[in-house]
Amino acid sequence: MKKIDFNDRALSLGLARVSEAAAIACAPLIGRGDEKAADQAAVDAMRTQLNKLDISGVVVIGEGERDEAPMLYIGEEVGNGTGPGVDIALDPLEGTTLTAKDMPNALAVIAMGPRGSMLHAPDTYMDKLAIGPGYAEGVVSLDMTPRERVEALAKAKGCTTANITVCVLERPRHEDIIAEIRATGAAIRLITDGDVAGVMHCAEAAKTGIDMYMGSGGAPEGVLAAAALKCMGGQIMGRLLFRNEDEKARARNAGITDFDRVYLRDDMVTADVIFAATGVTDGSLVSGIKREVGFVTAETILMRSKTGSVRRMIYRNPV
Ligand code: FBP
Repeated sequence: MKKIDFNDRALSLGLARVSEAAAIACAPLIGRGDEKAADQAAVDAMRTQLNKLDISGVVVIGEGERDEAPMLYIGEEVGNGTGPGVDIALDPLEGTTLTAKDMPNALAVIAMGPRGSMLHAPDTYMDKLAIGPGYAEGVVSLDMTPRERVEALAKAKGCTTANITVCVLERPRHEDIIAEIRATGAAIRLITDGDVAGVMHCAEAAKTGIDMYMGSGGAPEGVLAAAALKCMGGQIMGRLLFRNEDEKARARNAGITDFDRVYLRDDMVTADVIFAATGVTDGSLVSGIKREVGFVTAETILMRSKTGSVRRMIYRNPV
């Protein structure tokens, strides 16, 4: 059989339909206090739409391990099987609690690249650090203290530390870094969830006001954020964090042997990818789903790393 190459141009609009479907399916559940129902609606819709694409896809970043029996589990084959072999990283609803509470920046997210192009990150935490485009490689690093990172970025930006804003997940485990960042005079944008959006904000600093993202969050979300920054420009680095032996075993099962490795953006995503995210609730990057009598509107950001193209598309459909 003829091998079909990964053609991101042909597949990109199809990928936007996938994240759109997931976001739209959540619409009736926004602000209804039911995280599980919202997540399930997004998963079902994303899977149905994904299976219509002309791809032979494998989920590498998904909803969980197969034996936990979710849909869109890691290793699940997706697509209609007629097209190129691709890796899929997805989070049908990134920000389940944000959706349940109708808080900003919940997204339906998916990225696609050629087979073997994405880190099989286990479901552990990852220590993350990200900045937007235009800075020298390695201007900030995970080995620096939070203070050193803020000072290095301010120097590179040509401003004082008081002009730097850092985005951090509001968690007790981040109390120390928050205090250290504040002691530099920098501002902090605290978010309650959704660090894929948190990292993406760095790539559009002029619009979002966020210069740097710091702290620990899900490792799978780290790979999705790396895919986004590969398209938008910017740096992200991450180191896996393990709380127990079970998490280390998960990493070993995913083929990871060096537990201290720092993964740079292009280590997490090694080839050109397509990335699509549709707003579920309103955010700084895209608007959330709007429901009016008779129709629904969704906004999607669709990007290809090969060309650096970024499209924002408004989709309106009768319901
Ligand atoms: P969900 O959408 O699965 O609820 O994840 C939201 C999220 O905030 C991620 O963006 C982030 O990486 C992770 O949870 C942080 O984990 P924790 O809530 O355990 O700190």
